Amino acid sequence: MYILGIETSCDDTCAAVLHDNQILSNVISSQVDLHRQWGGVVPDIAKRAHQERISPVIETSLKRAKLTIKDIDLLAVTKGPGLAIALSVGLNAAKKIALENHQKIVAVNHIEGHIMANFLTNSFGKPHRPFIFPALALTVSGGHTKIILLRGVGDYQLVGETLDDAAGEALDKSAKLLGLGYPGGPVIERLAKSGDSHYLKLPSPLADKKILDYSFSGLKTSFYYQIKDWPKDKINAHLSDLSASFQSAVFDFLLRKFSLAIEKYHPSCLLLSGGVAANLTLRKNIRTLAKKYDLPLYLPFKKELNTDNAAMIALAGYYQAQRGDYANPETLDIDSRAEL
Ligand code: KG4
Ligand code: ZN
Repeated sequence: MYILGIETSCDDTCAAVLHDNQILSNVISSQVDLHRQWGGVVPDIAKRAHQERISPVIETSLKRAKLTIKDIDLLAVTKGPGLAIALSVGLNAAKKIALENHQKIVAVNHIEGHIMANFLTNSFGKPHRPFIFPALALTVSGGHTKIILLRGVGDYQLVGETLDDAAGEALDKSAKLLGLGYPGGPVIERLAKSGDSHYLKLPSPLADKKILDYSFSGLKTSFYYQIKDWPKDKINAHLSDLSASFQSAVFDFLLRKFSLAIEKYHPSCLLLSGGVAANLTLRKNIRTLAKKYDLPLYLPFKKELNTDNAAMIALAGYYQAQRGDYANPETLDIDSRAEL
């Protein structure tokens, strides 16, 4: 089956073509340069950029897959969660195509997309990614931080989630505080490499072992209060140490609760995904954790499959279609607060 995936939930305009679970093309038009000067995503700017880019991005994805729109069997589009006015652009484009070409359409949950990113393969079917259930997924992005238990494809249980900021959002906010620009995660990663992660002492939130949720606002506040009276040159002299300290506090917290969830739910496989999963230190740390528990670990096989992309939406859509969970293109609407 040929699937065209479309994703516009935040600030990336994305289209991808899959043949079953194999990526034939994966086009991502990032708007980071448009939002950087504002220190975060500006909804109106995102909407306009999606509108300008969606058609060329879809055309490029088909061209790279050496297909035409008539070859597509299924449209898979993100319905939410995400920015409402951004989601609408992708959803309307997908509906129009589906109606014009009499194609089936599925409305995909963005978080399910991030989880499915672990199971994508290249056009040769590599890497081999058999499903192993139950699987425990840690999904960490700019909008979400969730631990999810998968008993099968489409059978999900939310085990823990952030009560306030997402992990990526916390990294972005601390980067902003240090004057490092947007998005902060990649800059913090680069600086943290040469810093001392024990330079600042930050709290270990939600110490109660029965709680599997996250909260990053206390970390952020502690970080702010410890450096707020520092002169600019002292902050600049310690950018690496501050980045390393904050990043390591966030990652230790992520893995501390994930470990508790492993001990409670006894999964047979671990999954990591979402924009923050592009971070090499987090990847290394979770590999160590998987070894400790002697569990197989899947990570998206390419860096760009961690952050928002349409290949993950197309794969989630492929399995959704197998469950017969189609949408009506006449009435389909976004659901900006969609739950998994
Ligand atoms: O999944 P994503 O592209 O969009 C959302 O669904 O939110 O994630 C974006 C988030 C941002 O907070 C960004 O700072 C973070 O992922 N991120 C990273 C890295 N690359 C992106 N965080 C840490 N290290 C990275 N290398
Ligand atoms: Zn995302």
